[in-house]
Formats: sequence, C-alpha cells, structure tokens
Amino acid sequence: MNHIPRNAGAPATVLVTGGAGFIGSHACVDLLDHGYEVIVVDDHSNSTPQVLNRVERIAGRFVGAVYELDIRDRRALSAVFDRHRVDAVVHFAAHKAVGESTRMPVEYYDNNLGGTTSLLAAMRDHDVRRLVFSSSCSVYGDAGGGPLDESAPARPTNPYAASKWLCERVLADVCRHWTCLAVLCLRYFNPTGAHPSGLLGEDPNGEPDNLMPYVAQVAVGRRKRLRVFGGDYPTPDGTAVRDYLHVMDTVEAHRIALDRLSGSRGMRVFNLGSGQGSSVLDVVAAFSAACGRPIPYDVVERRPGDVPELVADARAVGRAWGWRPTRDLAAMCRDAWHFQQLNPHGYAGSARRPSIKE
Ligand code: NAD
Ligand code: WQD
Repeated sequence: MNHIPRNAGAPATVLVTGGAGFIGSHACVDLLDHGYEVIVVDDHSNSTPQVLNRVERIAGRFVGAVYELDIRDRRALSAVFDRHRVDAVVHFAAHKAVGESTRMPVEYYDNNLGGTTSLLAAMRDHDVRRLVFSSSCSVYGDAGGGPLDESAPARPTNPYAASKWLCERVLADVCRHWTCLAVLCLRYFNPTGAHPSGLLGEDPNGEPDNLMPYVAQVAVGRRKRLRVFGGDYPTPDGTAVRDYLHVMDTVEAHRIALDRLSGSRGMRVFNLGSGQGSSVLDVVAAFSAACGRPIPYDVVERRPGDVPELVADARAVGRAWGWRPTRDLAAMCRDAWHFQQLNPHGYAGSARRPSIKE
C-alpha cells in the first residue's frame, strides 16, 4: 500500500456520500491511501455494498463505517454526524443519467437537490464547514465553440444538468449567509477509466449510457456492436468530441480540494478536464489498441440532446492548485479494459458486505 500522511491541517475524517459509486469508490481508495479516515453513506440505489470490500483490499485499510441510507433521510443522516466527528464532506450522491432525468424530472430534482439541502442541514447542525461538490460539464449545455472555462454561461438542457446547476446556486447562496462554509464545486467533464488494479471500475446497471463502458462491454463480448451516435458532426472525423478524464486524476483533484478547503471560506468553481478533445472514433481506436481486438460499430443517427463538442479549459484549477491530469486516453482504455476483463459481469457475484442500516 502506498501510504502518504495527509498534509498538516488537512481534514482527518471525510464523509463521502455516494462512496460506493463509480467515482466515489475510487475517491475512497485515494483518501485511504493518503491517510484520511473515511465514512461512507450510500443508499446503493446505483451501486452495491460489495464495492467497499474491494476499496479496502486495494487500500489495505478499513473504511471507518458504511451507512446504507438515503441522504434525504434527515434523521438518519444527522445520526451519522452525531456518531462521527466529521471534518469535511465529499458529496457524490446523486442520480446521474441524462436520459432518465427527462423521464423522471421530479425524482431528479428531489434526489439531487433534496439530497444536497439535507446534507447542508446536517453539516450546519454539526458545524461541518468544508464541502466538495460533484458538479458537471452538463451545466454548460449547448455552449458550443472551443474549450469552455468557468465563465461560460450555464445553460442546462435537461433536468439532470439543471439539478446540478441549482445545487451550485443553492451552495453559493448558503455560503453568502453561512460565512464560515467553504465549498468547492468541481465540474467534471467525462470521467472514465478504472483503478489500475482492475478491482474497481464503472459498472452501470443495464445497458450503459456512456461511451466507455459500452465499448468495454462490446470488447468483452457482452454486447455485439457499438452504435456511434452521429457521423455528420462538424468535427474532424464527423463524430462528437468530448474531454475524457481518468477517474484516478479526477479523484486526486478531490483530495487536493480537501487540502485547499482548510482555512478557506466561500465557494469556488473549477472545471475538471484534460483540455484534450477526443472523438468517438478516437475512443474506439484507443480501446481497440488496448484490448487488441477490433470494436465493431455502426454509425447511426445522432443521439437527441448531444452537442458536437464539449472540451474543458481547465487551466484555472491548474493555476490555483497545480493539478493537471497525468493519464491519457490510452491509460483510460487500458485500465477500463483491465477491469472489464477481470469482471466481465461487473460486480455481480462478488462477496457481500454488511453495512449499517439506519
Ligand atoms: P454513481 O451513480 O456511480 O454514484 C453515485 C452514488 O450515489 C451511487 O452509489 C448511488 O447509490 C448513490 N446515491 C444516489 N442517490 C443517493 C441518495 N439519495 N442517498 C445516498 N446515496 C445515493 O455516479 P458517479 O459516476 O460515481 O458520479 C458521482 C457524482 O459525480 C454524481 O453526483 C454525478 O452527478 C457527478 N458526475 C458524474 C459524471 C460521470 O460522467 N460519471 C460526470 C459529471 C458529474
Ligand atoms: C460521449 C460521446 C455520445 C454512447 C454524459 C453526461 C454528462 C456527464 C458526462 C454527468 C457522445 C457518444 C455514447 C454510445 C456513442 N455526466 N456515444 N455511443 O454525453 O458526453 O456526457 O456523461 O454529469 O452530463 O451527459 O457522455 O459517454 O454518454 O457520450 O456514440 O453508445 O459518445 O453520443 O458523443 P456525454 P457519453
């Protein structure tokens, strides 16, 4: 295990909401590896508790406690804060599927916004003043043009994106009135890849919405062919361009954020991206190289709501913290493939872990 003591003055105990999810589980490993105590709260609406066994196996340390609860349950959440002296919160818990959000807008606002206000209430009641919030490039909507910095206007185009934008507005306003609160909103572009051990990765329920897990499932034979949504975009090869970011780079930024929150107040917003655009066909080619086999695909109609290009100008976070992603698309594909090979059916069938039910 790679154990590096945390920085002096940095928070000791971090409560991770959504810690069993894709990004949250990688964040737990990274925090444990760097000396933090970690408490996980997750209702497992989009994850399995087994994931945390793997987190502990990789880190060689235990998660302090795992609570299976919905963060909107204020009494249960408050009891967690009663039991642990929490120094900071990293808030991943949310519903995240864009398409589903258009079919279930009320559920998305209720979970994402209601979860965030419930968390804020518990933090206020227990005087916990540091929060890292998972926001999304989707708040920019169809902004168009080249790399987007944080000053690009928010134009969310679906309930999921709008829920993230509303959370940002609520957090900014609460910071204005609760002046001891320090919040960092991180707008991720397209986090993907997996832990290099192959033990943790992206395991979506049902048919994947996102490109990389879909490609990985085609490569491993779970799905026949990839559908490439749109071949007539105004991009170099006609397929849509995105800014893919390795999940390990993503979670490292959260740890740095926690260090930087110590002693700060108010809210800041940063993009998290690589600044490199990759087309769908670039991803297909990189994944084929990683797995050593072709990825069969058909170019089909554009997916409704997709934009031609979404790439981050993430220089602000680099200037502020010196954070820069170090893993390229080849590494994302290699690690995603490693996970998929070792876990062709995802986490299904791995050992069950008991969690504390509130
Ligand atoms: P995920 O679905 O894998 O993880 C979210 C976790 O939160 C799941 O384990 C789920 O069970 C849990 N959860 C959801 N609602 C809950 C509630 N009310 N109470 C307790 N637990 C709850 O998603 P992810 O990809 O790890 O994303 C994490 C965060 O990052 C989300 O807030 C998402 O909106 C944001 N984000 C993700 C991406 C991406 O591409 N994955 C991009 C931008 C932003
Ligand atoms: C990437 C590209 C698809 C699947 C989403 C959310 C965004 C953020 C990140 C949470 C697009 C194409 C995909 C497939 C394909 N998440 N594609 N065939 O849409 O950029 O962003 O995840 O905050 O809010 O919208 O990511 O991985 O779905 O798609 O051709 O089977 O791959 O059209 O161009 P997206 P994605």
